[in-house]
Amino acid sequence: MKIVVVGASGELGNQVADILAERGHEVVRANRGTGVDAYTGDGLAQALSGADTVVDCLSLETLSAKKAVDFFRTTAHNIGRAATAAAVGQVVVVSIVNADDPSVNAKFGYYQGKAAQEAAYRDVVDPASLTILASVQWFELAEQMMGRMAFGPVAVVPKMWCRPAAAGDVAKVVADTATAAPVLANGGGVRKIEVAGPAEMSLVEVAKAVAGRRGSPRWVLGAPVGGPAIRGGGLVPANPDVVTPTTLEQWLARRVDASAGSAS
Ligand SMILES: NC(=O)c1ccc[n+]([C@@H]2O[C@H](COP(=O)([O-])OP(=O)(O)OC[C@H]3O[C@@H](n4cnc5c(N)ncnc54)[C@H](OP(=O)(O)O)[C@@H]3O)[C@@H](O)[C@H]2O)c1
Repeated sequence: MKIVVVGASGELGNQVADILAERGHEVVRANRGTGVDAYTGDGLAQALSGADTVVDCLSLETLSAKKAVDFFRTTAHNIGRAATAAAVGQVVVVSIVNADDPSVNAKFGYYQGKAAQEAAYRDVVDPASLTILASVQWFELAEQMMGRMAFGPVAVVPKMWCRPAAAGDVAKVVADTATAAPVLANGGGVRKIEVAGPAEMSLVEVAKAVAGRRGSPRWVLGAPVGGPAIRGGGLVPANPDVVTPTTLEQWLARRVDASAGSAS
């Protein structure tokens, strides 16, 4: 199959593209570095020409609802319309469990962007060709957050109650979905697949485990951002369709201990 991965240089997209290429598919890695800008639309039609599937793994770094909504809505419209024009058989968009729920995203601008992204795809893509793959937070998110909000020996991480998964496990589910035939949800409508990790915990706990293994940052603090639903379990799926295998301990051993080993 010919599969276009938009956001292929990112944490998830890079792994999805690698898995698909290893499985023998023709993979088009689409991001600004390869000449495809999903926001302006430049290069999209060419990248999608003759494709069987397009996978949207785009992201931007912002907490601003205005920026997130503008980015995710615009890119979803551009990709969805280009995919329809090129008769691409399946569009898979990676989203976040419950980010489309107004009671969860009310105080979290990025999640409002993800809600706008899902809605924009539903507007422009035939439901039979669209799959929304909603993942829980990844263990890697704790690393990303510590990198973004570091002040000397202190890192700040949002207090989130979640059921985190390893991004590598989620990438496998995305790759499986991208190569399976698209289907409508039971009873019609857009299919949504929810992916969760093996156990519930707080993101602060994940960050502290990473920091403890690395020896830095020295202190990790939890910040009450994003509203009570984020802290109180609103991000945890009630009945996930897929439960990924990698535990926090296994992920730490692979990601943190292995990178420490390669650095020494
Ligand atoms: N982090 C989590 O815990 C988590 C959990 C569940 C779901 N998700 C979702 O997973 C998806 C991927 O997240 P990620 O953390 O892997 O993203 P990421 O590492 O930040 O990567 C973002 C990708 O988007 C590309 N990009 C940005 N603007 C672009 C543009 N205008 N045109 C083309 N490409 C553009 C970037 O490439 P260039 O800069 O080279 O263009 C990069 O490849 C997101 O939708 C996110 O919401 C994340």
